[in-house]
Amino acid sequence: MALHIHESGEDAQRSLHVRPRPINIDADSIPKLRMPARGMLPGAAYEIVHDELLLDGVARLNLATFVTTWMDQEAELLMAECAAKNMIDKDEYPQTAELERRCVNILASLWHAAEGENATGCSTTGSSEACMLGGLALLRRWRARPGHEKTATPNLVMGANVQVCWEKFCRYWDVEARLVPVSAEHTHLTAETALAHCDENTIGVVAVLGSTFDGAYEPVAQIAAALDALAEGGGPDVPIHVDGASGGMVAPFIDPDLEWDFRIKRVQSINTSGHKYGLVYPGVGWVVWRERGALPDELVFSVDYLGGHMPTFSLNFSRPGAQVVAQYYMFLRLGFEGYRDTQQTSRDTAIWLAEQIGALDCFELVSRGDELPVFAFSCAVGTPFTVYDVSDAIRSRGWLVPAYKMPAAIDDISVLRIVVRNGFTRDLAELFLDDLQRAVRTVARRGSDPEPVTSFHH
Ligand SMILES: Cc1ncc(COP(=O)(O)O)c(C=O)c1O
Repeated sequence: MALHIHESGEDAQRSLHVRPRPINIDADSIPKLRMPARGMLPGAAYEIVHDELLLDGVARLNLATFVTTWMDQEAELLMAECAAKNMIDKDEYPQTAELERRCVNILASLWHAAEGENATGCSTTGSSEACMLGGLALLRRWRARPGHEKTATPNLVMGANVQVCWEKFCRYWDVEARLVPVSAEHTHLTAETALAHCDENTIGVVAVLGSTFDGAYEPVAQIAAALDALAEGGGPDVPIHVDGASGGMVAPFIDPDLEWDFRIKRVQSINTSGHKYGLVYPGVGWVVWRERGALPDELVFSVDYLGGHMPTFSLNFSRPGAQVVAQYYMFLRLGFEGYRDTQQTSRDTAIWLAEQIGALDCFELVSRGDELPVFAFSCAVGTPFTVYDVSDAIRSRGWLVPAYKMPAAIDDISVLRIVVRNGFTRDLAELFLDDLQRAVRTVARRGSDPEPVTSFHH
C-alpha cells in the first residue's frame, strides 16, 4: 500500500509546510480496531485518514441531506479560527457567547416574537437537541399545571411523519408518542386529526415546518385555531411547539405572509437547524421560547460568566463555538435579502426539477418543492422497476438520492426524495436530470432487483 511518510527529524520539521513523499507501508501495520502501539508523523496520519475518506460520497452531490454542504471560504476560515473554542466556556470566550445571544435575538425577531415578551433561547448541536429542550419545557409546564392528575401518562401529539428525534424525546422522558396517522391525501398532521388526539394529558402538539418525508408544511395556524376553539369550549389548553428544523429558515424569507410563528399566540417555542437552511456546516441548532415564562426555571442552570453567572439550558455541556460564530457570519454576510434570494433560488430549482421529473412517464410526484425546496416522487403504477433500483443506479454517477417508505398507514408508497440546497445550482440540476433519465433507461433494461434494501433513516 502506498502511503506518504517522513523519516528524518528534518523532514518532520518541514512536515507542516510540504507534501510528504510517498513510501510503501505494510497495510497490516496500521491496526483499524485498536490504537497503534506507536504514533506516526502528522503528514502520514493525515494521508491515511484523508485517503480513506475518499471513499465517502461527495457532499455536494448528496441530495439526501438537508445539511449545508457549501460555505464561503471566509466562513471556513472563521470556523478554523474558532475550532478550539468551547461554547460552554462563556467566561473565557465572552464574545462567542455574545454572538450566540445576538443570533437568538435575530431569530426571535425573524419569527416575530413580541418586543416586550422577552423571548429567550439558545444554540444547540442541532434540531434534535433543540426539540428535546422544547419538549422538556412542554412536559415541565404540563406537570406544573394545577389540577392535573399526577399519575397520568403525559402524551405528545404529532403526525406520524415526525422526525425520529420526537420519538426519542418521548422514549427518553416516558411520554406517550401520540402519532397521528397520515394519509395519501394529507401526508402530514391536519387541524382535525391533531384535535382528535388531544386530551387533558397532552403536553403539546408538534407542528412541523416542513415534513422530512416530502417537504410539506403542516398547517400551524389552522391547528392553532382548532386548539383555541378546544380551550374556549372548556377543553384543555394545549400549547404548540413548531419544529422548523428546515422551514424555520425558509418561510420567513420566501413565505412572509404565512403565519406559523410567534404571531400565533399558541406557539410557545420554535426550533431550527442552523446547519440546514440556516446555511452553516453541521452542527448547530437553535431553540427559542416566545417568552421567558415558557421556559420552566428547573431547566435553567447557572454557569460562571465574566465572574458572574449566566443561565444555560442546553443538554450538552461542551460544544463547539465555531458553528455559532459561522451562523452570525452568515447573518451578516447575507442579510435578509441574501437569505431570501438564496432560499428562493433553491425553491425555483426544486420546482423546476420536480416539474421535469413529474413529466416523465415513469414517475409520479408526491410533492412539488413549493414549500420546502424538497420534493418526493414515486414510481408510476406498472413501472417495471422500483425507486430502490433508481436510487442504486443513479449512485453510479455519484448522486445520492434516498429511497424509502412513507410513514405508517401510507407505507405502501415508496419514494425518492430530493433536497435542493444552496450550491445545488440549476446547472447541476440539469446534469442530474440527464443522469436520472440515463439511470431510468438502465434499470428499465435491467429489470427490478428482487430484494431491494435501504438503510436510509430520517
Ligand atoms: C423536521 C425535522 N426535525 C428535526 C430534525 C433533526 O435535526 P438535526 O439533524 O438538526 O438534529 C430533522 C432532520 O432532518 C428534521 O427534518
